[in-house]
Amino acid sequence: MTSPGEKLEKGIEDAARIILERNYLVAMVGAGMSVESGIPPFRGSGGLWTKVGEPDNRGYQRFLEDPVAHWRNILNPEDMDGPRAEFRDAIENARPNPGHYSLVELEERDILKYIITQNVDGLHLDAGNRKVAEIHGNRNKLRCIGCNARWMRSEWDINVDNLPPRCPDPECGDLVKGDGVAFGEPIPRDVLNICYRESVACDSMIIIGTSAVVYPAAAFPQEAAMRGATLIEINTDDTPLTRMCELVLRGPSGQILPALAERIRAISEDIGR
Ligand code: APR
Repeated sequence: MTSPGEKLEKGIEDAARIILERNYLVAMVGAGMSVESGIPPFRGSGGLWTKVGEPDNRGYQRFLEDPVAHWRNILNPEDMDGPRAEFRDAIENARPNPGHYSLVELEERDILKYIITQNVDGLHLDAGNRKVAEIHGNRNKLRCIGCNARWMRSEWDINVDNLPPRCPDPECGDLVKGDGVAFGEPIPRDVLNICYRESVACDSMIIIGTSAVVYPAAAFPQEAAMRGATLIEINTDDTPLTRMCELVLRGPSGQILPALAERIRAISEDIGR
């Protein structure tokens, strides 16, 4: 009878071998990846939506109807305490965890070709990954809703006297908002195209810390599997994708990813890769 620890160890070994046998690994990442950086997830125990309820799908519509009110609330948020404020504080103080740095190593080894992340915390970029599609945007950036131009938030001096911010391109001039995709907002076409391209190109995908209930993100692993890619799930719990995965590594990504990177390193050295 193998213990859960032995089962996980064998699963990590098998995952390392599968990844090395294939040529194009893509990671699909969710909030679970950043839990060990101190950022609560959205769903499940301790989740932000678990505490305050899922937002409605009208956030983007409200922004379009009154962008000044939207920005006033961002500059002077009403709720300075409670779960949303705790979440905001956690994300502002978060740093990459060992799981993020493991994905940097796999990209540097040219094994991990791209990360599709639903996280807006920017921790993959902070850790050093460069091939990152932030499908729900990045909280540290601004974006023009007309031409998808993006800037670091720190580059702009947005205050109540110059609202709403607008795109400086004289050919555009459209409204500027946070790069984070609001509920009801279409995913920007440029990043969506990258996600689709990478899901089609991959022959293996590690699905890390996502409940796989939000679309179109949750469709990409299914798209990859339909094209013959091998799916490997790293999650503390089952998800709707679990049954599609060849391997399920049940546990925290901040521990499993470093172990996976270590096995990939060891096997690569053995086979001289
Ligand atoms: N390691 C791995 N997985 C974990 C860990 C951990 N340490 N902790 C939690 N998980 C798993 C949970 O079991 C769950 O499956 O991470 C997942 C988190 O799910 P959600 O909170 O729903 O996050 P996510 O899937 O990224 O949500 C998708 O929903 O509200 C939107 O924009 C938001 O991008 C987000 C999207």
